[in-house]
Amino acid sequence: MCGVVGYKGKNIKVADIIESLKLLEYRGYDSAGIAFNYNGDLVVQKNEGKIDKLLINFNGKYEDISSNIVIAHTRWATHGVPNDINAHPHIDCTKKIAVVHNGIIENYKEIKEELINKGHNFISDTDSEVLSHLIEEFLNKYNNLFEVSLEVVKKIKGAFAFVAISNDLEELVAVRYESPLIIGIYDNNYIIASDIPSILRFTKKIIVLENGDIFFINKKNEYKIYNFIIDKEIKRPIEFVSWDISIAEKSGYKHFMLKEIMEQPKVIKDTLLERINIDSNTITLDDKVKNLIDLKINDINSIVYLACGTSYHAGLLGRYYTWELTDLNPDAFYASEYRYINKNVNLDKILYIVISQSGETADTLFVARELKRLGANIIGIPNVIGSSLYREFISFNTRAGIEIGVAATKTFTAQIIAILLLNLYISSLKNKDNLILKDLIQDLAHIHIVVDKFLEDYIKIQEIAIKYKDYEHFLYLGRNLMYPVALEGALKLKEISYIHAEAYPSGEMKHGPIALIDSKMPTMYLAPYNDLIYKNLSNIQEIKARKGIIIALVDNKSVDIVKDYVDDFIVLPYVNKFLQPILFNIALQLFAYFVADLKGLDVDQPRNLAKSVTVE
Ligand code: F6R
Repeated sequence: MCGVVGYKGKNIKVADIIESLKLLEYRGYDSAGIAFNYNGDLVVQKNEGKIDKLLINFNGKYEDISSNIVIAHTRWATHGVPNDINAHPHIDCTKKIAVVHNGIIENYKEIKEELINKGHNFISDTDSEVLSHLIEEFLNKYNNLFEVSLEVVKKIKGAFAFVAISNDLEELVAVRYESPLIIGIYDNNYIIASDIPSILRFTKKIIVLENGDIFFINKKNEYKIYNFIIDKEIKRPIEFVSWDISIAEKSGYKHFMLKEIMEQPKVIKDTLLERINIDSNTITLDDKVKNLIDLKINDINSIVYLACGTSYHAGLLGRYYTWELTDLNPDAFYASEYRYINKNVNLDKILYIVISQSGETADTLFVARELKRLGANIIGIPNVIGSSLYREFISFNTRAGIEIGVAATKTFTAQIIAILLLNLYISSLKNKDNLILKDLIQDLAHIHIVVDKFLEDYIKIQEIAIKYKDYEHFLYLGRNLMYPVALEGALKLKEISYIHAEAYPSGEMKHGPIALIDSKMPTMYLAPYNDLIYKNLSNIQEIKARKGIIIALVDNKSVDIVKDYVDDFIVLPYVNKFLQPILFNIALQLFAYFVADLKGLDVDQPRNLAKSVTVE
């Protein structure tokens, strides 16, 4: 978490760097700051709160200022409460060095003590401040930031992407270890940032730094990259990014979240592109993914899905798909849980599917790396191209495009598509003439059209949101494939509306949660037409018998069975049972969105969250 930006080159308007920083706000937004060289002085401006506040303070004083060396930061607090002092950049005692940092310095306490004993004066409660003081200390011995950073990385433990500048030396150094850093290059100018979109306004030519890379620029604007893990200077390729800057704009929508919900038909189409063939009823996987599955299919007997948050819900759905579509045993774990259990299993028998939108989630990456070290079979499902999951593993990427709203929406749908494709392919290897598969492949190829049509008219969902927005507790219930959807719907409501929502498999309700039911806790009941509709109807009646309020999500085949027993209902198109989660989930995304918007909340940047969680 946290977003970092750095710049070194010819004079640039400092306000432009702040604009770039704004695109990183999804990574954290409890405080923001900037430091830059202004006529030989190091100017530092920072505050608690969002970048807009920084911009107001900044514009009052430095509106038209340009500088040749700048760093900036947007924070998601780990050590030290969000306030002006703990905001980055952090400076040293001489006030000549400034540092911005993303990650955690795990051994900061002992380093801080050591430095205090040497006379350094710390002012913040953060772990990051040790970096500026360590640099100051080593500058007594070496007179350049490159050699200094080689010493600094020997001292610190943890995860870090930091950018440091020295005003006196007119040097910049950016160091990447376990947290991403990208370099943009144009005309001998260098822009450094935590992700690609924030660089796009300057250039489409980038270098993706690898773990252990130190990117150093001297006074003359010459750069070198040195990898401190393998201890040698290296060359990294300059890549060209074809993305357009408009991916980071709202394009007329009130919020990124709504824009991203509306983009889902395209996301489905893109993720399926050239992977599904409706003439031959076949699935074509990317080469490396196909080769791995073809090679291992006779050895493996299970698939284990690993992920966090929304991506975990996609994995849980994958568990049901694998049960129903293949002959393999499925399981799904939160990555943070799987990391620390004793894996006393035969890894040759398992295919791990590791899902992460950002491809940088520490909990997910660390368990995947550990499994890779042990020789496990792993396929990653990242969305962000160039992310660690994408680069370090055989990857079957989703094609949702950049997702800016902190709450995951379109990427979840893309993950469902990717997981379905993998399961369909595995299934087809053993059972080519399966009619269920053929039907599903046909329906999958057309589902974007149904979603598109459904998204044309969401007025009913808006009305339900208006009616129920002031309830403080919700129960979300669904069975089988609808259970992960219930979990995801409840998570969306919690995340952006700050409403307490619990999700259970419908059959579990009577084993405890039923005690919660009263007229103050509405139930969002997911009741599509399938084999379980009459079981669902019984559960609905159990809730009604206890004076519970029910909002049912139904389709045009289940509506007549359910409608007389519920308080309100929203009708979705009836689709293949394996595709029902896609539509039902989109309806729940819209419900959460409208509730949050009606409450006047910050939909795209809900409190306490960050999009990319790069700490354990
Ligand atoms: C929910 C949300 C989070 C993420 C989780 C994993 O809306 O965004 O729960 O799903 O932090 O993130 P990734 O998929 O990037 O590993």
